[in-house]
Amino acid sequence: MSKIIQGKRIARELCDRVAIEAAEFRQKHGLPPALAVVLVGANPASEIYVRQKVVECRRAGIRSMEYRLPAVTPEAALLDLIDSLNQDATIHGILVQLPLPDHIDASEVLDAIDPGKDVDGFHPVNVGRLSTGTAGLIPCTPLGCMMLVDTVVDELRGKHAVVIGKSNIVGKPVALLLLERECTVTVTHIATQGLPDIVRNADIVVVAAGVPHLVRGHWVKPGAVVIDVGITRRERSDGKASIVGDCATEEMAHADAVTPVPGGVGPMTIACLLANTLKAARTLNDG
Ligand code: GUN
Repeated sequence: MSKIIQGKRIARELCDRVAIEAAEFRQKHGLPPALAVVLVGANPASEIYVRQKVVECRRAGIRSMEYRLPAVTPEAALLDLIDSLNQDATIHGILVQLPLPDHIDASEVLDAIDPGKDVDGFHPVNVGRLSTGTAGLIPCTPLGCMMLVDTVVDELRGKHAVVIGKSNIVGKPVALLLLERECTVTVTHIATQGLPDIVRNADIVVVAAGVPHLVRGHWVKPGAVVIDVGITRRERSDGKASIVGDCATEEMAHADAVTPVPGGVGPMTIACLLANTLKAARTLNDG
């Protein structure tokens, strides 16, 4: 049987470490690390994510402020809010929940965030730092994926990693992080031909396609490590909803280790957000 990578437990341990260090920060600077979370509109999934982020921040002693703006908010008003958060020295992290309503240009908004407060790691300066392997704020989900891989793989150097999905939020940054660790990285996407044969060569599979149960057991070679970033909400016949990942996990008994959905990558994303907020607070205050 493959190991189940206990993302929930590993995330809790990280949150607990951040809580200790956030208390030390508060002691030293007289104010806690602080995160501003901005939500425009009422996307139900975003509402849930934002609530979880705010709850975990508070548990860890990170001050969190929610800014909930109506869906019709003009882009200029959102940019004004970001400007005021950039100027506010008591705020160390700014997160604008995506997706944004169609009339708002997300890249304009992400570009407006002070790169030092960009706890999502989506600003071009942080994207550039990631691509050159220099210190910056790293996107939370890819960072969490790497932490989970590190719990089960001793040496990444020389391993073949296959990333399924080329999004700016997960696929591209996780590919860069794997490359930095000297994996041989293949990035696949919606137009990739012969995906099962490519996956069959992988020592590490990171799937972030948003396609429930895309990766089947017979695609995965024995001993591989599978990181499942997918979270699709499915209505069941009994009227209840369940969350399903991008892997047919029950077919992965021959893998070395797999992440569960839920309880794998999801909690790590939030834990890494807390860690990034603490890191931003320290860098802004201590250099
Ligand atoms: N929407 C889906 N994932 C993310 C994320 O990691 N950060 C933000 N800001 N929005 C998201």
